[in-house]
Amino acid sequence: MSTKKIVVTGANGQLGWELTQLSASYPMYEFIFADRSMFDLSKPELFESLIQQWAPQAIINTAAYTAVDKAETEQALANLINTTAVAELARIAGANDILFLTFSTDYVFNGNATSPYLTDTIIDPVNFYGTTKAQGELLALAVNPNTIIIRTSWVFSSHGNNFVKTMMRLMKERISLNVVSDQIGRPTYAKDLAIATIKIIGEASDGKKIKGVYHFANKGVTSWFEFAQQIKKNAGLSCDLLPINTAQFPTPAKRPAYSVLDTQKIETAINIDIPSWEESLLACQKMLG
Ligand SMILES: NC(=O)c1ccc[n+]([C@@H]2O[C@H](COP(=O)([O-])OP(=O)(O)OC[C@H]3O[C@@H](n4cnc5c(N)ncnc54)[C@H](OP(=O)(O)O)[C@@H]3O)[C@@H](O)[C@H]2O)c1
Repeated sequence: MSTKKIVVTGANGQLGWELTQLSASYPMYEFIFADRSMFDLSKPELFESLIQQWAPQAIINTAAYTAVDKAETEQALANLINTTAVAELARIAGANDILFLTFSTDYVFNGNATSPYLTDTIIDPVNFYGTTKAQGELLALAVNPNTIIIRTSWVFSSHGNNFVKTMMRLMKERISLNVVSDQIGRPTYAKDLAIATIKIIGEASDGKKIKGVYHFANKGVTSWFEFAQQIKKNAGLSCDLLPINTAQFPTPAKRPAYSVLDTQKIETAINIDIPSWEESLLACQKMLG
């Protein structure tokens, strides 16, 4: 099956927006970028008719309920968007021979590991957001084993809400800032993930056997504190950064202490060279000016 028309949900999110920016570089595809007003994931009963109307060869689902702390109390909505909707999209795609690619998170893991998580490491989420994403993965694969799932972590972009933009704003406003230093992970520039996503869609539609779970994150491992230090350095800011531990910064949702994803599988599958997080952070901050 050759892919021509691709529906992208969540067009105004970090990843969805990066895909909109890249679309002109891929004239072989006709993208339909659907924001929440065009494709509302909380209304799965409408999916079938919208998909029939658009008749795409691929669906890239970037939309998600991503408010990790709020998910602890808004459980029904988080579950509807991250689990029920994902399973329904997977089912419709499977029934209509449409490629289906969706995203998941490092927060499906419990954080107790000491070496990078492989795609087949047992999942064991420690918060409700992670639980909804984990259930979404399992149900999507159960109803449509050809589903492609890319787990990613610590996503940043020049667009939308993320750690980089929040840190830059706070570092301009304050003399000093406490940042958690005992959570370890791999930052991901949404633009790099968008490029890998289009590549994976291309190769899957050319007949390469790509299905199941993959991990994508920028190269290198860091803590939120070291990440903030690099953001400060790149932006030439002078705010004092102070390392604190997780216990000193309580949040409604528990975070995994170690959420480093192993990305070897995707690197081999689509033959990509993933940039380091430092290099991509600099590129992103240049976009922010
Ligand atoms: N951000 C991270 O650090 C991170 C980490 C690991 C995994 N991920 C996963 O990576 C994927 C992309 O994340 P991202 O960073 O691009 O997320 P994001 O910037 O938070 O964007 C999520 C998008 O989903 C949309 N959305 C929320 N509820 C919706 C609904 N009911 N119907 C339709 N759209 C809805 C939002 O719409 P509005 O713009 O209208 O609010 C937003 O545009 C997601 O699957 C996420 O779970 C993200």
